Amino acid sequence: MSIGIIGAGALGSNMARLLAKSGLSATIANSRGPESLSGLIEELGPFIKAGTVEDAASADIVLVAVRWVDLETALGGLPAWNGRIAIDCTNPVAFLDPGSPEAKDPSNPLAAYGIKAIDLGGKHSSTVFRDFAPGARVVKAFNHFDAQVLAEPAVSGGQRVLFYSGDDVDAKAEVRKLFEQTGYFPVDLGPLDVGGPLASLPFGSLAGVNFIRI
Ligand SMILES: NC(=O)c1ccc[n+]([C@@H]2O[C@H](COP(=O)([O-])OP(=O)(O)OC[C@H]3O[C@@H](n4cnc5c(N)ncnc54)[C@H](OP(=O)(O)O)[C@@H]3O)[C@@H](O)[C@H]2O)c1
Repeated sequence: MSIGIIGAGALGSNMARLLAKSGLSATIANSRGPESLSGLIEELGPFIKAGTVEDAASADIVLVAVRWVDLETALGGLPAWNGRIAIDCTNPVAFLDPGSPEAKDPSNPLAAYGIKAIDLGGKHSSTVFRDFAPGARVVKAFNHFDAQVLAEPAVSGGQRVLFYSGDDVDAKAEVRKLFEQTGYFPVDLGPLDVGGPLASLPFGSLAGVNFIRI
């Protein structure tokens, strides 16, 4: 089973760190090309390789860790997914320029966190994500807690809980094995349309919550 990571920022790099710690190999990509990732590869090698977005996207399981506004560009024009698994790690939020009037908009309850919700016309983000990755079996995961803790699944004598959701039972069984291999305690929240909204920022009731299974 091969693993790809699209996005090498806070989330993608910590995902790579988690996989490397678990002895799992992956190919990671960003928008600027493999050479720009040499520092990360030096730290995490030999398990983690840098590649192009196409290289990462050709893996059996592809973790998508780009900002919502970059999703269409990152996934647009990729070869057919043909049933490979895409793990949607995104949240539909936009980051605000601290100096902009939007950053002080009193009608935005998230302005204090430097973000705003993106209007998806009433759709849940994973429904929109599915359209960006046609033919992929989509699982939503790794989007509900801070990326800085992602590489630490063992905490306080227990295992950090990882919520995931998806519509394809076989895909969920495959990623569950992967989550367990990394030391997480995975909890299936059901289909995408149910579990996705529950565990997604900015308003999901399980988003930002860290449960530890003792
Ligand atoms: N940070 C967190 O704590 C956290 C927690 C949960 C969920 N999330 C979600 O995870 C996603 C990523 O967040 P982040 O904080 O990791 O963002 P980030 O630090 O800004 O990193 C974004 C990454 O995406 C890459 N990227 C942008 N456009 C791309 C393209 N067209 N093709 C390939 N790669 C592209 C960037 O590469 P370049 O630098 O080369 O442009 C960068 O490596 C977001 O949807 C966020 O909501 C984040």
